[in-house]
Amino acid sequence: MSKPIIKSWWKHGVMYQIYPRSFKDSNNDGIGDLEGIIQSLDYLQDVGVDGIWLSPIYRSPMYDFGYDVSDYCSIDPIFGTIANFKKLLKEAEKRNIAIIMDMVLNHTSHLHPWFVESRSSVDNPKRDWYIWHPGKNGKVPNNWMAAFGGRAWTWDELTRHYYLHLFTEQQPDLNWHNPEVKKAMVDVLRYWLDMGVKGFRFDVINYIVKDINVRSNPYRLRLTYPRRHDLQVHIYDRNQPEIHDILKELRQLLDSYGDTMSVGETYPNEGEKEPAMAASYQGNNDELHLSFDFSTIYARFNAREFECILKNWYHAIGDSGWPCHVLSNHDQSRAITRLANNDVRKAKLLAVMLLTQKGTPFIYYGEEIGMVDGKIKRSQIQDPLGKKYWPFHKGRDKARTPMQWDVTPNAGFSNGKPWLPVNSDYVTTNVLQQQRNKQSILHLYKDCIAIRRLHPALYAGDIEFVSAPDDVLLYKRVFKNEHLMIALNFSKAKKDVTIGVKGEVLLSSCGNSSMHSSHSSIHGGTLTLDAYEAVIIKVQ
Ligand code: NOJ
Repeated sequence: MSKPIIKSWWKHGVMYQIYPRSFKDSNNDGIGDLEGIIQSLDYLQDVGVDGIWLSPIYRSPMYDFGYDVSDYCSIDPIFGTIANFKKLLKEAEKRNIAIIMDMVLNHTSHLHPWFVESRSSVDNPKRDWYIWHPGKNGKVPNNWMAAFGGRAWTWDELTRHYYLHLFTEQQPDLNWHNPEVKKAMVDVLRYWLDMGVKGFRFDVINYIVKDINVRSNPYRLRLTYPRRHDLQVHIYDRNQPEIHDILKELRQLLDSYGDTMSVGETYPNEGEKEPAMAASYQGNNDELHLSFDFSTIYARFNAREFECILKNWYHAIGDSGWPCHVLSNHDQSRAITRLANNDVRKAKLLAVMLLTQKGTPFIYYGEEIGMVDGKIKRSQIQDPLGKKYWPFHKGRDKARTPMQWDVTPNAGFSNGKPWLPVNSDYVTTNVLQQQRNKQSILHLYKDCIAIRRLHPALYAGDIEFVSAPDDVLLYKRVFKNEHLMIALNFSKAKKDVTIGVKGEVLLSSCGNSSMHSSHSSIHGGTLTLDAYEAVIIKVQ
């Protein structure tokens, strides 16, 4: 295979997020593990994945399923050992797959030795590693609310101070105004980089520094489930200017390890589209390598709306940064359910859109086989957010159900009782069956990734949106003499699109051959698209 014409793997590659608890269980305790991931690497290579982002696998009491770390330099026994992890790195490397770790810099577990020390006395050397406050007039220091319910401050009787936690009370926030915290975290990053990881996904990176004067946030009106956290504009507990300097240092560290990368979870005010905020964390190509714009979370399945979101994202990124694209992750309803009413034709269109944009695409495990949101009964809820806010918010478990591998019990995920129920559609929606069916969404992903790899216009070219009928999104991807056109029909009706050029259809999401090739036809520069059809055309 020819080498990609841009060097950095994270720019031309395709990323795949694994939620390790839910991917593949090798020891039948009902929870996915590292050995399970190792066993699945051939599959991921076959899909065409270049990098895997692992949600946290560090030692953790699991109040927030690993996003509450009690030891950053060990693997939780549920997932395996350091030896398993080293094997994963080696086996992945053999297949040209890079591993990136999820790194939680904003907070630790309350059981982390740093916090245990910090809370032990007001003059403990680690006291200032976390954010402590005596309170104001016998009350909490300010109005900040925790994302998982209640106040962001918890009173600690031992030293009679409040500590800050923007998530659960078992996740105390670190004090990044203290240089010792940064130093300790740099050591953690080095530990994993030295072992061979190729980068990090930084959890809520735009939250890590808080206003030094802990000023209260202004309020705003908004319809929401009963979460007071959403009724504030988060100007003092997020996006503080000091974060940029910290990221510059982390970027230098990563760059000193060669072709490594970082992608930041840059989270907007709930319900808002904030591409400029997300882009700002790439700095002048000297902070994060990539940052997520979550505008797609708040989108509808609509051609004009996606055109607007994408254009705003590219505009915000400008020339110095590099875009990335994501439709689903472990915190959101899956895109096929949220945007596409579980309609596979629409999910195929979304896949083509995701994989033909300029920038790095992120696939969430199971998205490639069209896994839909799970149905979780109240008694089955695991997520702290769901436990707190059911029935207004039923939690994030629906997007974390076990990977559907085959038709054997528990969809081949585990021979034990899975930690979350397997979706009942696994008998029809699973990897094995889709591997055998050339019309499956899995084959569409594979074909689209293969085409992407072959065509520099797709992984390195510019993008230009072209005017098109309502319900159709049309854009060009151009690199030197290579010229591709992508047409997406968001409507349930057939659509004629004048594209004014001659071309060969490289892929159609409604195609009926092994390469999902032409079902659409181009007559005299006019393309007829079926309902929800997506095509990639090589312009002659
Ligand atoms: C964002 C993560 O994506 C989410 O899963 C987690 O609960 C919070 N950060 C807290 O770490």
